[in-house]
This record gives sequence, C-alpha cells and structure tokens, in this order.
Amino acid sequence: MVKEDFYSMKRNGKAISMVTVYDAAFARMAEAAEIDMLLVGDTAANVVLGMDRTAGISMEAMCIFTSAVKRGAPNTYIVSDMPFGSDSEPKIAVQNAMRFIEAGANAVKIEGLPLESLNAIREKGIDIVGHLGLLPQTATSFKQVGKNEEEAEKIFEQAKILDGLEPCSIVLEHIPDLLGKKISQAINSPTIGIGAGKHTDGQVLVMHDLLRMHPFKLPPFAKTFANFWEAGVNAFCNYKNWVNEK
Ligand code: KIV
Repeated sequence: MVKEDFYSMKRNGKAISMVTVYDAAFARMAEAAEIDMLLVGDTAANVVLGMDRTAGISMEAMCIFTSAVKRGAPNTYIVSDMPFGSDSEPKIAVQNAMRFIEAGANAVKIEGLPLESLNAIREKGIDIVGHLGLLPQTATSFKQVGKNEEEAEKIFEQAKILDGLEPCSIVLEHIPDLLGKKISQAINSPTIGIGAGKHTDGQVLVMHDLLRMHPFKLPPFAKTFANFWEAGVNAFCNYKNWVNEK
C-alpha cells in the first residue's frame, strides 16, 4: 500500500485497520491477517519495556523495534512513532524521521502540531501521520479530551491544519464520538480512531490490549479479541509441570 490507497479507502468507505506491533513475530502475524497499517508505537515504552510513560523511550529503541517489524512484515505499510523530544526542532525532526525511514518505516507519526517540524519532514518527501486529541507524551491526565466547546474547536482546527499537509492519516485519540465524526467528515485525510467513536475512517488498537497480553486494567475504549495472558500463563504452568515431572 501507499498513501494514496488510504485516501481511496476513505473515499470508498472501506475501513482502515491499524494495530501497534513492536517485533518481528507479531508483525508477521499482523501481516498474515492483512492488517492495513502497522504502528510501531511509542507505547512500546509501556507494554514492552514496562515504563510508566511513553515519554521514556529513545530513538535508538524505536529504530530497533521498527527494523524488527520491517523484517517480520516486509509488505505492510509501517508507521513509526516519533518519541518525545525527537521532533522538537525541525532539523532534528528531519534527521530522526530519516532514521526511521532507513530502519524500514513508510511514514512517521507525530503527536500534536509542531508545525515547523511537520513541514520540514514533509519537504523531505517523508509521509506523516498526525495524532490529535489525547496526547500521551505530554498529557497530565488520561481522561477524554475535547468535551467542552473550546477544546473541541481547537482539536477541529488542528485537524484542518494537519489536513493541509496531506498526511497519510490522522490518529484521533480519546475524544467524543461526535467530534470524531465531525472531523472525519470535514477533512480529506483518513482518520484513525482510538476511543473516537465509530465514524472515523479506521481504527487502531494497542496490540497488548487487543490480544489481552497483560493483567492490567484496560483503557475504557480498548477492545479485546483474545486472551493471551491466560493462554501464556497456562502454557508456562504446563511447561513447568512437564519439567518437574522430568
Ligand atoms: O504509541 C501508540 O501506540 C499510539 C496509539 C495509542 C495510537 O500512539
């Protein structure tokens, strides 16, 4: 797939599936399932590295995850998340975006609207994915955003500005359904929701939530499609019993 394919999916009302992956094995699984877009999210900080916040992850780690995902899913569109601080200045943002492309990404995702950095990356011909609404890298609370008129209007205006940069898509995180719908109808770029209602042009979920890979409380918008936690613990117990029985 290329960027234009996602625009044509939007025009034709075909939903875009995106999931986060961080290694070759799960990327291979997602490619076998024909997921449209893989996101090497900075949630790797939480779900892979066990950190409290996404802001703790480095470019080096994100590049290692990106190249692993590329090896596992060589034929799927890969988006890599610019970690906290990696896009703070246009020159540095371009260098970091290029590192991701060299590691195998097709596009880079940036939280919020650092316009100069976004423009500089686009000028180099690199595809971008926007991310508006709840911005985990800088959020002080993980509650829904855009509930009051002023906040909703701000997110709507940001989406229109991002749309002008022709991003490959825009992730909308934890905003009211109606705002997700209003933005999706007003802009040309495909929108990918995570807790943004059912009217966005696609959906994204964190792999560890979707597969239920951990025992922790899930975010309110997460949906599970398997229980890898239970299956994994059972398998380890069975293995331990097998070893004990010699
Ligand atoms: O890093 C990530 O996994 C994300 C998703 C929550 C969209 O940005």
